[in-house]
Amino acid sequence: MTESLTFPSGFRWGTATAAYQIEGAVAADGRTPSIWDTSCRQPGAIVNGDTGDVACDHYRRWREDLAIVAELGLTDYRFSVSWPRIEPVPGRINAAGLDFYDRLVDTIRELGIRPVLTLYHWDLRQWLQDDGGWRERSTAKLFAWYAAILAERLGDRVATWTTLNEPWCSAFLGHGSGVHAPGLRDPALALRVAHNLLLGHGTAVSGLRAILPRTAEVSLALNLHQVRAASDRPDDLDAARRIDGVANRIFLDPVLGRGYPEDVRRDVFEHTDFGFVRPGDLDLIAAKIDSIGVNFYSPSLVIADPESPEIAAYPGSQGVSFVDPGFPVTAMDWPVDASALTDLLLRVSTDAPGLPILVTENGAAFDDHLDADGRVRDEERTAYLHDHLAAVHDAIAPGADVRGYFAWSLLDNVEWAYGYDKRFGIVRVDYDTQERTVKDSARAYAAWAAANALLP
Ligand code: NOJ
Repeated sequence: MTESLTFPSGFRWGTATAAYQIEGAVAADGRTPSIWDTSCRQPGAIVNGDTGDVACDHYRRWREDLAIVAELGLTDYRFSVSWPRIEPVPGRINAAGLDFYDRLVDTIRELGIRPVLTLYHWDLRQWLQDDGGWRERSTAKLFAWYAAILAERLGDRVATWTTLNEPWCSAFLGHGSGVHAPGLRDPALALRVAHNLLLGHGTAVSGLRAILPRTAEVSLALNLHQVRAASDRPDDLDAARRIDGVANRIFLDPVLGRGYPEDVRRDVFEHTDFGFVRPGDLDLIAAKIDSIGVNFYSPSLVIADPESPEIAAYPGSQGVSFVDPGFPVTAMDWPVDASALTDLLLRVSTDAPGLPILVTENGAAFDDHLDADGRVRDEERTAYLHDHLAAVHDAIAPGADVRGYFAWSLLDNVEWAYGYDKRFGIVRVDYDTQERTVKDSARAYAAWAAANALLP
Protein backbone atom coordinates (compact mmCIF):
# COMPACT_ATOMS: atom_id res chain seq x y z
CA MET A 1 0.00 0.00 0.00
CA THR A 2 1.83 3.07 -1.14
CA GLU A 3 -0.68 5.48 -2.65
CA SER A 4 -4.20 6.37 -1.64
CA LEU A 5 -6.90 5.34 -4.08
CA THR A 6 -9.58 7.98 -4.30
CA PHE A 7 -13.13 7.07 -5.30
CA PRO A 8 -15.38 9.22 -7.48
CA SER A 9 -17.11 11.98 -5.60
CA GLY A 10 -20.47 10.87 -4.24
CA PHE A 11 -19.34 7.23 -4.01
CA ARG A 12 -21.70 5.43 -1.63
CA TRP A 13 -20.08 3.76 1.38
CA GLY A 14 -22.62 1.41 2.87
CA THR A 15 -23.17 -1.68 4.90
CA ALA A 16 -25.91 -4.29 4.55
CA THR A 17 -28.11 -6.64 6.55
CA ALA A 18 -31.16 -8.84 5.97
CA ALA A 19 -34.27 -9.11 8.13
CA TYR A 20 -34.20 -12.80 9.00
CA GLN A 21 -30.50 -12.74 9.74
CA ILE A 22 -30.67 -10.00 12.37
CA GLU A 23 -34.17 -9.19 13.58
CA GLY A 24 -35.17 -12.13 15.80
CA ALA A 25 -38.54 -11.43 17.51
CA VAL A 26 -40.10 -13.92 15.14
CA ALA A 27 -43.47 -13.92 16.86
CA ALA A 28 -43.60 -10.24 17.81
CA ASP A 29 -46.36 -7.87 16.74
CA GLY A 30 -48.23 -10.36 14.63
CA ARG A 31 -45.39 -11.77 12.52
CA THR A 32 -46.02 -15.33 11.30
CA PRO A 33 -43.32 -17.83 10.26
CA SER A 34 -41.28 -17.67 7.09
CA ILE A 35 -39.81 -20.63 5.25
CA TRP A 36 -36.59 -20.07 7.20
CA ASP A 37 -38.38 -20.40 10.55
CA THR A 38 -39.68 -23.70 9.28
CA SER A 39 -36.32 -24.79 7.93
CA CYS A 40 -34.62 -24.05 11.26
CA ARG A 41 -36.89 -26.58 12.88
CA GLN A 42 -35.92 -29.44 10.57
CA PRO A 43 -33.25 -31.55 12.25
CA GLY A 44 -29.92 -31.12 10.50
CA ALA A 45 -30.97 -28.24 8.26
CA ILE A 46 -29.01 -25.59 10.18
CA VAL A 47 -25.61 -26.06 11.81
CA ASN A 48 -25.91 -26.61 15.59
CA GLY A 49 -29.70 -26.51 15.32
CA ASP A 50 -29.50 -22.70 15.39
CA THR A 51 -32.57 -20.63 14.65
CA GLY A 52 -33.26 -16.98 13.87
CA ASP A 53 -35.65 -16.74 16.83
CA VAL A 54 -33.45 -14.22 18.62
CA ALA A 55 -30.65 -13.52 16.13
CA CYS A 56 -29.20 -10.07 16.92
CA ASP A 57 -32.44 -8.95 18.55
CA HIS A 58 -32.35 -6.10 16.07
CA TYR A 59 -36.13 -5.79 16.16
CA ARG A 60 -35.63 -4.33 19.63
CA ARG A 61 -32.10 -2.94 19.35
CA TRP A 62 -32.39 -1.25 15.98
CA ARG A 63 -31.73 2.24 17.35
CA GLU A 64 -28.43 1.10 18.83
CA ASP A 65 -27.49 -0.60 15.56
CA LEU A 66 -28.32 2.42 13.43
CA ALA A 67 -26.32 4.59 15.81
CA ILE A 68 -23.30 2.42 15.00
CA VAL A 69 -23.79 2.94 11.26
CA ALA A 70 -23.95 6.68 11.91
CA GLU A 71 -20.92 6.61 14.16
CA LEU A 72 -18.99 4.90 11.39
CA GLY A 73 -19.95 7.77 9.08
CA LEU A 74 -21.39 5.53 6.37
CA THR A 75 -23.56 7.10 3.68
CA ASP A 76 -25.93 4.19 3.00
CA TYR A 77 -27.60 1.40 4.93
CA ARG A 78 -29.09 -1.58 3.08
CA PHE A 79 -31.69 -3.61 4.96
CA SER A 80 -34.51 -5.93 3.98
CA VAL A 81 -38.16 -5.95 4.90
CA SER A 82 -39.66 -9.11 6.34
CA TRP A 83 -42.66 -10.02 4.20
CA PRO A 84 -44.15 -12.08 7.09
CA ARG A 85 -44.26 -8.93 9.23
CA ILE A 86 -46.12 -6.99 6.55
CA GLU A 87 -48.61 -9.64 5.44
CA PRO A 88 -48.65 -12.27 8.18
CA VAL A 89 -51.87 -13.80 6.91
CA PRO A 90 -53.16 -13.78 3.34
CA GLY A 91 -54.33 -10.40 2.16
CA ARG A 92 -54.13 -8.63 5.54
CA ILE A 93 -51.65 -5.84 6.05
CA ASN A 94 -50.17 -5.74 9.52
CA ALA A 95 -49.97 -2.16 10.72
CA ALA A 96 -47.39 -3.02 13.40
CA GLY A 97 -45.08 -4.48 10.78
CA LEU A 98 -45.30 -1.42 8.56
CA ASP A 99 -44.80 0.84 11.57
CA PHE A 100 -41.54 -0.89 12.42
CA TYR A 101 -40.00 -0.17 9.01
CA ASP A 102 -41.50 3.31 9.00
CA ARG A 103 -39.66 4.16 12.22
CA LEU A 104 -36.52 2.46 10.97
CA VAL A 105 -36.50 4.48 7.75
CA ASP A 106 -37.21 7.76 9.54
CA THR A 107 -34.36 7.14 11.93
CA ILE A 108 -31.94 6.14 9.18
CA ARG A 109 -32.71 9.42 7.45
CA GLU A 110 -32.51 11.47 10.62
CA LEU A 111 -29.00 10.11 11.05
CA GLY A 112 -28.11 11.43 7.60
CA ILE A 113 -27.90 7.95 6.05
CA ARG A 114 -29.54 6.87 2.79
CA PRO A 115 -31.89 3.88 3.22
CA VAL A 116 -31.55 1.13 0.61
CA LEU A 117 -34.49 -1.25 0.92
CA THR A 118 -34.54 -4.86 -0.23
CA LEU A 119 -38.03 -6.25 -0.66
CA TYR A 120 -37.18 -9.94 -0.69
CA HIS A 121 -34.18 -11.40 1.07
CA TRP A 122 -35.41 -15.01 1.13
CA ASP A 123 -37.95 -14.99 3.96
CA LEU A 124 -41.05 -16.11 2.08
CA ARG A 125 -44.15 -16.37 4.24
CA GLN A 126 -44.72 -20.00 5.15
CA TRP A 127 -48.40 -19.84 4.30
CA LEU A 128 -47.50 -18.77 0.81
CA GLN A 129 -45.03 -21.66 0.53
CA ASP A 130 -47.86 -23.95 1.61
CA ASP A 131 -49.79 -22.60 -1.38
CA GLY A 132 -46.88 -23.50 -3.69
CA GLY A 133 -44.50 -20.59 -3.07
CA TRP A 134 -42.36 -19.53 -6.03
CA ARG A 135 -43.49 -22.64 -7.90
CA GLU A 136 -46.64 -20.65 -8.70
CA ARG A 137 -46.85 -17.70 -11.06
CA SER A 138 -49.40 -16.15 -8.72
CA THR A 139 -46.61 -15.59 -6.17
CA ALA A 140 -45.10 -13.04 -8.57
CA LYS A 141 -48.31 -11.03 -8.43
CA LEU A 142 -48.55 -11.29 -4.67
CA PHE A 143 -44.96 -10.09 -4.43
CA ALA A 144 -45.74 -7.07 -6.59
CA TRP A 145 -48.74 -6.31 -4.39
CA TYR A 146 -46.55 -6.42 -1.29
CA ALA A 147 -43.97 -4.20 -3.04
CA ALA A 148 -46.68 -1.67 -3.81
CA ILE A 149 -47.85 -1.60 -0.19
CA LEU A 150 -44.34 -0.70 0.91
CA ALA A 151 -43.89 1.83 -1.86
CA GLU A 152 -47.12 3.57 -0.83
CA ARG A 153 -45.92 3.77 2.74
CA LEU A 154 -42.18 4.45 2.34
CA GLY A 155 -41.80 5.70 -1.22
CA ASP A 156 -41.50 9.31 -0.12
CA ARG A 157 -38.48 8.47 2.04
CA VAL A 158 -36.66 5.52 0.48
CA ALA A 159 -34.73 6.41 -2.63
CA THR A 160 -33.29 3.00 -3.53
CA TRP A 161 -35.44 -0.11 -3.90
CA THR A 162 -34.02 -3.55 -4.56
CA THR A 163 -36.61 -6.11 -5.55
CA LEU A 164 -34.92 -9.48 -5.03
CA ASN A 165 -31.71 -10.43 -3.31
CA GLU A 166 -29.79 -13.19 -5.08
CA PRO A 167 -32.61 -14.98 -6.87
CA TRP A 168 -30.07 -17.62 -7.91
CA CYS A 169 -29.93 -18.74 -4.27
CA SER A 170 -33.71 -18.73 -3.83
CA ALA A 171 -34.18 -20.77 -7.00
CA PHE A 172 -31.20 -23.10 -7.14
CA LEU A 173 -30.17 -23.51 -3.50
CA GLY A 174 -33.78 -23.47 -2.34
CA HIS A 175 -35.19 -25.81 -5.00
CA GLY A 176 -32.15 -27.46 -6.67
CA SER A 177 -29.61 -28.52 -4.04
CA GLY A 178 -32.09 -27.97 -1.22
CA VAL A 179 -29.51 -26.47 1.16
CA HIS A 180 -31.65 -23.36 1.54
CA ALA A 181 -35.29 -23.14 2.51
CA PRO A 182 -37.68 -24.52 1.38
CA GLY A 183 -35.19 -27.37 0.96
CA LEU A 184 -36.45 -28.93 -2.28
CA ARG A 185 -34.28 -30.89 -4.73
CA ASP A 186 -35.84 -30.66 -8.15
CA PRO A 187 -33.89 -29.02 -10.99
CA ALA A 188 -36.94 -28.63 -13.23
CA LEU A 189 -38.74 -26.85 -10.42
CA ALA A 190 -35.69 -24.67 -9.70
CA LEU A 191 -35.75 -23.40 -13.29
CA ARG A 192 -39.44 -22.63 -13.10
CA VAL A 193 -38.87 -20.86 -9.78
CA ALA A 194 -36.11 -18.75 -11.33
CA HIS A 195 -38.61 -17.62 -13.94
CA ASN A 196 -41.31 -16.86 -11.40
CA LEU A 197 -38.84 -14.88 -9.31
CA LEU A 198 -37.90 -12.85 -12.37
CA LEU A 199 -41.57 -12.38 -13.10
CA GLY A 200 -42.02 -11.16 -9.52
CA HIS A 201 -39.13 -8.75 -10.04
CA GLY A 202 -40.50 -7.38 -13.31
CA THR A 203 -44.07 -7.10 -12.06
CA ALA A 204 -42.90 -5.36 -8.91
CA VAL A 205 -40.74 -2.92 -10.91
CA SER A 206 -43.72 -1.86 -13.01
CA GLY A 207 -45.84 -1.41 -9.90
CA LEU A 208 -43.12 0.50 -8.08
CA ARG A 209 -42.72 2.88 -11.03
CA ALA A 210 -46.38 3.83 -10.79
CA ILE A 211 -46.01 4.79 -7.13
CA LEU A 212 -42.47 5.96 -6.50
CA PRO A 213 -41.24 9.44 -7.35
CA ARG A 214 -39.43 9.64 -10.67
CA THR A 215 -36.14 10.12 -8.88
CA ALA A 216 -36.34 6.74 -7.14
CA GLU A 217 -33.73 4.14 -8.00
CA VAL A 218 -35.09 0.64 -8.66
CA SER A 219 -32.62 -2.22 -8.66
CA LEU A 220 -32.03 -5.95 -8.37
CA ALA A 221 -29.18 -7.66 -6.49
CA LEU A 222 -27.61 -10.67 -8.20
CA ASN A 223 -24.89 -12.92 -6.85
CA LEU A 224 -23.05 -13.15 -10.12
CA HIS A 225 -20.42 -15.86 -10.33
CA GLN A 226 -17.01 -14.87 -11.61
CA VAL A 227 -16.29 -18.18 -13.27
CA ARG A 228 -13.02 -19.02 -14.93
CA ALA A 229 -12.08 -22.09 -16.93
CA ALA A 230 -9.15 -24.16 -15.67
CA SER A 231 -7.50 -23.91 -19.10
CA ASP A 232 -8.12 -22.61 -22.59
CA ARG A 233 -9.05 -26.08 -23.79
CA PRO A 234 -12.42 -26.02 -25.53
CA ASP A 235 -14.01 -28.46 -23.07
CA ASP A 236 -12.90 -26.40 -20.06
CA LEU A 237 -14.17 -23.24 -21.71
CA ASP A 238 -17.44 -25.00 -22.33
CA ALA A 239 -17.64 -25.98 -18.65
CA ALA A 240 -17.25 -22.30 -17.73
CA ARG A 241 -19.88 -21.33 -20.29
CA ARG A 242 -22.39 -23.74 -18.74
CA ILE A 243 -21.93 -22.39 -15.23
CA ASP A 244 -21.93 -18.80 -16.44
CA GLY A 245 -25.18 -19.58 -18.25
CA VAL A 246 -27.15 -21.05 -15.38
CA ALA A 247 -25.70 -18.80 -12.68
CA ASN A 248 -25.41 -15.44 -14.44
CA ARG A 249 -26.92 -15.12 -17.90
CA ILE A 250 -30.16 -16.87 -16.97
CA PHE A 251 -30.87 -13.78 -14.84
CA LEU A 252 -28.91 -11.02 -16.55
CA ASP A 253 -30.10 -11.66 -20.09
CA PRO A 254 -33.86 -11.52 -19.52
CA VAL A 255 -33.52 -8.57 -17.13
CA LEU A 256 -31.50 -6.73 -19.76
CA GLY A 257 -34.11 -7.49 -22.41
CA ARG A 258 -32.31 -10.30 -24.21
CA GLY A 259 -34.57 -13.18 -23.17
CA TYR A 260 -33.28 -16.53 -21.94
CA PRO A 261 -29.95 -17.56 -23.51
CA GLU A 262 -30.31 -20.24 -26.18
CA ASP A 263 -27.33 -22.21 -24.90
CA VAL A 264 -28.84 -22.39 -21.39
CA ARG A 265 -32.10 -23.61 -22.87
CA ARG A 266 -30.15 -26.36 -24.64
CA ASP A 267 -28.10 -27.25 -21.56
CA VAL A 268 -31.18 -27.73 -19.38
CA PHE A 269 -33.50 -29.17 -21.99
CA GLU A 270 -33.74 -32.52 -20.24
CA HIS A 271 -35.41 -30.70 -17.33
CA THR A 272 -37.54 -28.18 -19.15
CA ASP A 273 -38.27 -26.54 -22.48
CA PHE A 274 -39.10 -23.29 -20.69
CA GLY A 275 -42.74 -23.96 -21.41
CA PHE A 276 -43.56 -21.88 -18.35
CA VAL A 277 -42.64 -18.69 -20.21
CA ARG A 278 -45.89 -17.08 -21.37
CA PRO A 279 -46.35 -14.35 -23.94
CA GLY A 280 -45.54 -11.01 -22.38
CA ASP A 281 -43.42 -12.44 -19.55
CA LEU A 282 -40.13 -11.42 -21.08
CA ASP A 283 -41.31 -7.86 -21.60
CA LEU A 284 -42.36 -7.67 -17.97
CA ILE A 285 -39.04 -9.08 -16.78
CA ALA A 286 -37.18 -6.54 -18.90
CA ALA A 287 -38.81 -3.61 -17.06
CA LYS A 288 -36.22 -0.87 -16.93
CA ILE A 289 -34.06 -0.81 -13.81
CA ASP A 290 -31.88 2.09 -12.71
CA SER A 291 -28.92 0.16 -11.37
CA ILE A 292 -27.79 -3.40 -10.92
CA GLY A 293 -26.62 -4.74 -7.58
CA VAL A 294 -23.72 -7.18 -7.60
CA ASN A 295 -23.06 -9.36 -4.56
CA PHE A 296 -19.61 -10.87 -4.70
CA TYR A 297 -17.59 -13.00 -2.31
CA SER A 298 -15.44 -15.49 -4.12
CA PRO A 299 -14.28 -16.63 -7.57
CA SER A 300 -15.08 -19.99 -9.16
CA LEU A 301 -12.82 -22.20 -11.23
CA VAL A 302 -14.25 -25.03 -13.31
CA ILE A 303 -12.91 -27.88 -15.37
CA ALA A 304 -14.45 -30.32 -17.82
CA ASP A 305 -14.91 -33.64 -16.07
CA PRO A 306 -16.82 -36.18 -18.17
CA GLU A 307 -17.45 -38.37 -15.11
CA SER A 308 -19.11 -35.63 -13.13
CA PRO A 309 -22.88 -35.88 -12.72
CA GLU A 310 -25.01 -32.74 -12.78
CA ILE A 311 -24.36 -30.54 -9.75
CA ALA A 312 -27.74 -30.09 -8.07
CA ALA A 313 -27.55 -26.30 -7.80
CA TYR A 314 -26.49 -25.94 -11.44
CA PRO A 315 -28.97 -27.60 -13.82
CA GLY A 316 -27.26 -28.56 -17.06
CA SER A 317 -23.84 -28.86 -15.41
CA GLN A 318 -23.20 -32.54 -16.11
CA GLY A 319 -19.54 -33.01 -17.07
CA VAL A 320 -18.42 -29.98 -15.04
CA SER A 321 -16.45 -29.91 -11.79
CA PHE A 322 -15.57 -27.01 -9.55
CA VAL A 323 -11.89 -27.08 -8.62
CA ASP A 324 -9.87 -25.35 -5.93
CA PRO A 325 -8.30 -22.26 -7.45
CA GLY A 326 -5.58 -22.40 -4.80
CA PHE A 327 -6.14 -19.06 -3.09
CA PRO A 328 -6.25 -18.55 0.69
CA VAL A 329 -9.74 -19.15 2.05
CA THR A 330 -12.11 -17.54 4.55
CA ALA A 331 -13.85 -19.36 7.39
CA MET A 332 -16.48 -20.39 4.82
CA ASP A 333 -13.68 -22.09 2.87
CA TRP A 334 -14.33 -19.60 0.12
CA PRO A 335 -11.24 -18.70 -1.90
CA VAL A 336 -10.16 -15.06 -1.77
CA ASP A 337 -9.17 -13.37 -5.01
CA ALA A 338 -10.09 -9.71 -5.27
CA SER A 339 -9.06 -9.44 -8.93
CA ALA A 340 -12.11 -11.56 -9.75
CA LEU A 341 -14.30 -8.69 -8.55
CA THR A 342 -12.59 -6.30 -10.97
CA ASP A 343 -13.16 -8.74 -13.83
CA LEU A 344 -16.78 -9.26 -12.83
CA LEU A 345 -17.56 -5.54 -12.62
CA LEU A 346 -15.94 -4.93 -16.00
CA ARG A 347 -17.94 -7.77 -17.47
CA VAL A 348 -21.20 -6.39 -16.07
CA SER A 349 -20.43 -2.94 -17.40
CA THR A 350 -19.83 -4.43 -20.85
CA ASP A 351 -22.98 -6.56 -20.65
CA ALA A 352 -25.15 -3.74 -19.37
CA PRO A 353 -23.73 -0.59 -20.91
CA GLY A 354 -25.01 2.57 -19.29
CA LEU A 355 -26.42 0.80 -16.24
CA PRO A 356 -24.87 2.01 -12.95
CA ILE A 357 -23.56 -0.75 -10.68
CA LEU A 358 -23.71 -1.05 -6.92
CA VAL A 359 -21.66 -3.66 -5.09
CA THR A 360 -24.59 -4.49 -2.83
CA GLU A 361 -22.62 -7.08 -0.80
CA ASN A 362 -19.01 -8.00 -0.26
CA GLY A 363 -17.31 -9.26 2.85
CA ALA A 364 -15.87 -12.28 4.61
CA ALA A 365 -16.38 -14.59 7.56
CA PHE A 366 -13.38 -15.17 9.76
CA ASP A 367 -13.10 -16.77 13.20
CA ASP A 368 -12.33 -13.54 14.96
CA HIS A 369 -12.54 -13.12 18.72
CA LEU A 370 -12.76 -10.52 21.40
CA ASP A 371 -9.38 -9.73 22.94
CA ALA A 372 -8.99 -9.15 26.68
CA ASP A 373 -8.83 -5.40 26.06
CA GLY A 374 -12.25 -5.47 24.40
CA ARG A 375 -11.02 -5.16 20.82
CA VAL A 376 -11.59 -7.41 17.85
CA ARG A 377 -8.43 -7.32 15.76
CA ASP A 378 -9.87 -8.79 12.58
CA GLU A 379 -6.94 -8.03 10.33
CA GLU A 380 -7.95 -10.62 7.75
CA ARG A 381 -11.34 -8.98 7.27
CA THR A 382 -9.74 -5.55 7.02
CA ALA A 383 -7.38 -6.86 4.35
CA TYR A 384 -10.26 -8.53 2.51
CA LEU A 385 -12.31 -5.33 2.48
CA HIS A 386 -9.30 -3.26 1.49
CA ASP A 387 -8.35 -5.51 -1.39
CA HIS A 388 -11.88 -5.76 -2.71
CA LEU A 389 -12.35 -2.00 -2.54
CA ALA A 390 -9.08 -1.65 -4.43
CA ALA A 391 -10.52 -4.12 -6.96
CA VAL A 392 -13.62 -1.92 -7.29
CA HIS A 393 -11.32 1.03 -7.86
CA ASP A 394 -9.48 -0.98 -10.51
CA ALA A 395 -12.78 -1.52 -12.31
CA ILE A 396 -13.82 2.13 -12.08
CA ALA A 397 -10.53 3.32 -13.56
CA PRO A 398 -11.12 1.83 -17.04
CA GLY A 399 -14.77 2.87 -17.00
CA ALA A 400 -17.05 0.62 -14.92
CA ASP A 401 -19.75 2.87 -13.50
CA VAL A 402 -19.68 1.57 -9.92
CA ARG A 403 -21.55 3.99 -7.68
CA GLY A 404 -21.19 2.37 -4.29
CA TYR A 405 -20.09 -0.51 -2.10
CA PHE A 406 -21.86 -2.22 0.82
CA ALA A 407 -19.82 -4.21 3.31
CA TRP A 408 -21.56 -7.43 4.29
CA SER A 409 -22.46 -7.32 7.03
CA LEU A 410 -23.07 -4.67 9.65
CA LEU A 411 -23.48 -7.34 12.33
CA ASP A 412 -22.45 -10.91 12.91
CA ASN A 413 -25.71 -12.73 12.23
CA VAL A 414 -27.49 -15.94 11.27
CA GLU A 415 -25.55 -17.16 8.25
CA TRP A 416 -28.50 -19.17 6.94
CA ALA A 417 -27.70 -22.90 6.95
CA TYR A 418 -24.44 -22.19 8.83
CA GLY A 419 -26.27 -20.61 11.76
CA TYR A 420 -24.28 -18.38 14.11
CA ASP A 421 -21.09 -20.26 13.44
CA LYS A 422 -19.83 -17.93 10.72
CA ARG A 423 -19.22 -14.29 11.56
CA PHE A 424 -19.41 -11.83 8.66
CA GLY A 425 -19.96 -8.70 10.76
CA ILE A 426 -17.84 -5.58 10.89
CA VAL A 427 -19.48 -5.35 14.31
CA ARG A 428 -19.26 -8.29 16.68
CA VAL A 429 -22.37 -9.59 18.39
CA ASP A 430 -22.06 -11.48 21.65
CA TYR A 431 -25.05 -13.77 21.38
CA ASP A 432 -25.23 -14.31 25.15
CA THR A 433 -25.43 -10.65 26.08
CA GLN A 434 -26.31 -9.05 22.71
CA GLU A 435 -23.40 -6.71 23.28
CA ARG A 436 -22.05 -5.07 20.10
CA THR A 437 -18.32 -4.45 19.60
CA VAL A 438 -17.13 -2.42 16.65
CA LYS A 439 -14.35 -4.49 15.09
CA ASP A 440 -11.09 -3.02 13.81
CA SER A 441 -12.28 -3.69 10.26
CA ALA A 442 -15.22 -1.36 10.81
CA ARG A 443 -12.87 1.37 12.04
CA ALA A 444 -10.72 0.97 8.95
CA TYR A 445 -13.77 0.98 6.71
CA ALA A 446 -15.04 4.14 8.43
CA ALA A 447 -11.70 5.88 7.83
CA TRP A 448 -11.84 5.02 4.11
CA ALA A 449 -15.43 6.22 3.90
CA ALA A 450 -14.49 9.50 5.58
CA ALA A 451 -11.62 10.02 3.15
CA ASN A 452 -13.57 8.65 0.16
CA ALA A 453 -10.33 6.80 -0.48
CA LEU A 454 -8.34 3.77 0.51
CA LEU A 455 -5.59 5.31 2.57
CA PRO A 456 -1.97 4.22 2.30
C1 NOJ B 1 -25.30 -13.40 0.33
C2 NOJ B 1 -26.59 -13.24 1.06
O1 NOJ B 1 -27.35 -12.23 0.45
C3 NOJ B 1 -26.41 -12.96 2.53
O2 NOJ B 1 -27.65 -13.09 3.14
C4 NOJ B 1 -25.38 -13.91 3.11
O3 NOJ B 1 -25.26 -13.79 4.48
C5 NOJ B 1 -24.05 -13.63 2.42
N1 NOJ B 1 -24.19 -13.92 1.02
C6 NOJ B 1 -22.90 -14.46 2.93
O4 NOJ B 1 -23.12 -15.79 2.61
